[in-house]
Amino acid sequence: MVNDDLLDQLQCGHLAELQARYESVLASHGYDAVLISSGAAPLRFADDQGYHFQGYGPFVHWTGLVGAEHAWLLIRPERKPLLQLHTPVDFWHATAELPQAAWVTAVELAGSADGVPPLTAGCGRLAVLGDPALLQAVAGDHNPPALVADIEATRVHKTDYEIACLAEANARAAPGHRAARQVFLAGGSEFAIGLAYQQATGQREVEAPYHSIIGLNDHAGILHYQFYDQVSPELPRSLLIDAGYRFRGYCSDITRTWAGPQQGPFQALIVALEALQKRLCQAVAPGVDFVALHRKTHLGLAALLDSAGLVQGLDDEAMVAAGITRAFFPHGLGHLLGVQVHDVGGKPVPPPVDAPFLRMTRTLEAGMVVTIEPGLYFIPSLLAPLLTGPLSAHMNRRLLDALMPCGGIRIEDNVLVTADGPRNLTREQLP
Ligand code: GLY
Ligand code: MN
Ligand code: MN
Repeated sequence: MVNDDLLDQLQCGHLAELQARYESVLASHGYDAVLISSGAAPLRFADDQGYHFQGYGPFVHWTGLVGAEHAWLLIRPERKPLLQLHTPVDFWHATAELPQAAWVTAVELAGSADGVPPLTAGCGRLAVLGDPALLQAVAGDHNPPALVADIEATRVHKTDYEIACLAEANARAAPGHRAARQVFLAGGSEFAIGLAYQQATGQREVEAPYHSIIGLNDHAGILHYQFYDQVSPELPRSLLIDAGYRFRGYCSDITRTWAGPQQGPFQALIVALEALQKRLCQAVAPGVDFVALHRKTHLGLAALLDSAGLVQGLDDEAMVAAGITRAFFPHGLGHLLGVQVHDVGGKPVPPPVDAPFLRMTRTLEAGMVVTIEPGLYFIPSLLAPLLTGPLSAHMNRRLLDALMPCGGIRIEDNVLVTADGPRNLTREQLP
């Protein structure tokens, strides 16, 4: 378990580092100050119920306060950040308490009953960042794109505090993944597995970084499957669980896939994909082009499809060039991770045409945390053109038909890039 005193100390260093990064960005864009809105959840149409709220990334980057609505943060050079929280008189809801944590001494803290922004007269040239719907009456330049891009870039290299939080987010997700596997092997439904995950992590579903993906059998082949069946399948063939934990704002994003009893060929594929995934994690190092690593994944998958006998009579390069590996693995290898599960700043250049869903096009540098999440799925709509088109002779239809009800496999770890090699934050907890 993480040491809170150490974390508090690291957090003060984190704030000092953000102050330095912001001062440099503000100076380079000619701004004297930046005001950041935490955001607020809109009400659903024709309803008095709001959507679930998760705060705006730059606000969470500074404060870790994911649930603070109508709050504001004013950053000025050589001044303590001004953090204004919304403290209305409200007998319907619990009002946010002003935080007592150690880092609060590093900010100027204020409460506001009405949630309007703090006074910024005298701040000089001001940029205002946040949801435009909340900025209409606020003076200053709203979300100037070049500034926003550079502010987002301040989130790409994690401070020691952020790394400690991301490691802890992994540690706290691990018991959930172990419990999910137990319930699956005992024949539990997706719903029961979801409850076990929440129970073991002590985290409500809405507090998680994203809606947990819990797919049994063919549901494992739906990349972002969003429902929880309450009924167990007659034959539990497979479980894909993609679920994380949010610690002080920081997200883990972990996927494991398990085979049910007597699923020999599928279990063999899991073993083979996991071996590939571990090799890719080992390859994480400064100077590695993530697009190249994504392409290397496709070559690894081609070799796997060949040795498993799923695709026959094509060499690895030809299989990739023909788009066969993309039918089995349609998403990207991974993305940056931070206070958002798909953290910002990963695509200073758009992804290439052969990897349209890749969320990370940077070359790796020390301090980045990325997910490494290769997959191998049996998705009927993507396999149909291969099975009926000119490549059909290369496809092992009998084996594919047998594996289709298992849905697919994804294995996902969170990996820190360091000068001394990769640090796999997930395998430290789930070997
Ligand atoms: N959990 C969504 C993803 O892995 O990107
Ligand atoms: Mn991911
Ligand atoms: Mn995931």
